[in-house]
Amino acid sequence: MSAAPVDRAKIMEALRTVKDPELHVDIVSLGMIEDLQVEGGTVAFTVNLTTPGCPLKAQVEKEVREAVGRVPGVQAIQLKMGARVRRSIEATGDLIPEVANVVAIGSGKGGVGKSTVSVNVALAFARAGASVGLLDADIYGPNDPQMLGVKERPEIQERRILPVQVHGIKLMSMAFFLKDDEPVIWRGPMLHGAMKQFLGDVVWGRLDYLFIDLPPGTGDVQLTLSQVIPLTGAVLVTTPQDVALLDVRKAAAMFRKVNVPVLGIVENMSYLNCPHCGERLEVFSHGGGRRSAEAFGVPFLGEVPLDIGVRQGGDEGRPPVVCDPKSGPSLIFKEIAEKLAAIISVNTYRKYEQEMAARS
Ligand SMILES: Nc1ncnc2c1ncn2[C@@H]1O[C@H](COP(=O)(O)OP(=O)(O)OP(=O)(O)O)[C@@H](O)[C@H]1O
Ligand SMILES: [Mg+2]
Repeated sequence: MSAAPVDRAKIMEALRTVKDPELHVDIVSLGMIEDLQVEGGTVAFTVNLTTPGCPLKAQVEKEVREAVGRVPGVQAIQLKMGARVRRSIEATGDLIPEVANVVAIGSGKGGVGKSTVSVNVALAFARAGASVGLLDADIYGPNDPQMLGVKERPEIQERRILPVQVHGIKLMSMAFFLKDDEPVIWRGPMLHGAMKQFLGDVVWGRLDYLFIDLPPGTGDVQLTLSQVIPLTGAVLVTTPQDVALLDVRKAAAMFRKVNVPVLGIVENMSYLNCPHCGERLEVFSHGGGRRSAEAFGVPFLGEVPLDIGVRQGGDEGRPPVVCDPKSGPSLIFKEIAEKLAAIISVNTYRKYEQEMAARS
């Protein structure tokens, strides 16, 4: 006598008992289940999480297997764990129509490590499986190509610019169009044009995340950018000294003024691990980034130590996240990326919920 076929509705019912650990909503309502197939006692389906490299993936997978395993008649589960990053911004005409999320990386002050954080966090997202672009919008001192060890220039195809592919991300930078040592002077309308070109004339294609490495401060580029495209939000980088913290406050206020949410704060050069004795030295004092984040009511994303490997990697075009992925700083960049991905996913879902509530 053959067993009764497994009931699809019962499978979905069982899956409804599993909640996304960050969104606290069941995974069926979130549309995460795809390609459900039932053949005899074998059940096959895909669970698409909202962030790639989600650290809670194993937990979700376990709960899904347990829930489906309890459905009468199920003998085998063929489960694929995937990710589909949701779109947080409206598609904007011909500028980056296929980019799901845009994250600007800024700071109040120069030299605090925006480019280092942009490069390594973008690479950490790519290593987790996301499709990633990095736009070096520091038109005054672009150095992402150097930090990534890029020597080639982008190709032009049918009057559009192909970004350079490096370590699995797409890169575009003003550095590709400047001669060495040539200063750039930008005025308002030119800047507007350049930003539009960087977005619209570059073949970014489909991206889960586009990171934008900003010049320091609260100047024209930041404002222009927020006028040209919708931004998912901004990440602010600071060092722990009081002077840097004062400036990060200004940067946060500026982003708020132009309705760009601050997604989080990273404290860079947070402390030094003495290479000789291993003691933790707090060169610039410590903990100010976390306190500022609390004061502004924004998430704190992490503390990156002052590390010789990070500095050398930047100078030599060997980013630690790719070239030394097991190092302390690389693991911290990975954690920052995971936190940021979760924050974006939660914000996007909350926005969607609010829109739905407003419609009904
Ligand atoms: N955690 C770190 N440990 C050691 N060196 C670091 C660290 N972060 C950044 N640096 C070094 O500090 C210098 C400045 O960093 P970076 O260029 O990333 O800052 P920035 O904020 O982008 O600067 P700018 O304002 O000029 O754009 C670089 O030489 C970089 O390699
Ligand atoms: Mg920089």
